[in-house]
Amino acid sequence: MAGGSFPLATLSLAFLCSCLTFHNANADLIGDLCSTVPNHSFCNQALRSDPRSAKADIRGLGQIALDKALASAKTTLKLAQALGNGQKPSTCAEVCSDAIDDLNECQGLLRGNDKGSLNIKASAAMTDLDTCDDDYGAKEPINLKNASQTTKGYISIILAVSNRL
Ligand SMILES: *[C@@H]1O[C@H](CO)[C@@H](O)[C@H](O)[C@H]1NC(C)=O
Ligand SMILES: *[C@@H]1O[C@H](CO)[C@@H](O)[C@H](O)[C@H]1NC(C)=O
Repeated sequence: MAGGSFPLATLSLAFLCSCLTFHNANADLIGDLCSTVPNHSFCNQALRSDPRSAKADIRGLGQIALDKALASAKTTLKLAQALGNGQKPSTCAEVCSDAIDDLNECQGLLRGNDKGSLNIKASAAMTDLDTCDDDYGAKEPINLKNASQTTKGYISIILAVSNRL
């Protein structure tokens, strides 16, 4: 009877799920870390899409986020520069450059497990991008806003890592 196989199917599914969890031990590390980041889905997607994340420890996840944050900050800077002349674009480009400098400093701090300084530098980079967004306000071009949001999403992962080192 079809009814008789239902509990077995349920049991098999439960077993399959626990096996998948077991084989992907970092699912928990990434899930735990991302639960402390404002945008959980962005964090999960960002880390899991990187092949290095499968074997990464907390510092390895921080390195992935840092690499992505740097690349995204450079994209944001290029967009800000491409907007051309005028005071607002130059303010944004200036603070984006500062954010890139801060993120570059994060490299050594992450490697050295200096959680306090890492948190300070990543926070400074976050503030720089906020300054860019605030400067444009509602008139911020959509592609720049997107690039800035994405960069801030990666930085929020670095901040979460700094709290767990
Ligand atoms: C969270 O990230 C996703 C992309 O993963 C994005 O589509 C969404 O807008 C973000 N949500 C917020 C509140 O920023
Ligand atoms: C936003 O930025 C991300 C990362 O650079 C990119 O993949 C995505 O296509 C962008 N979305 C829009 C609407 O520009």
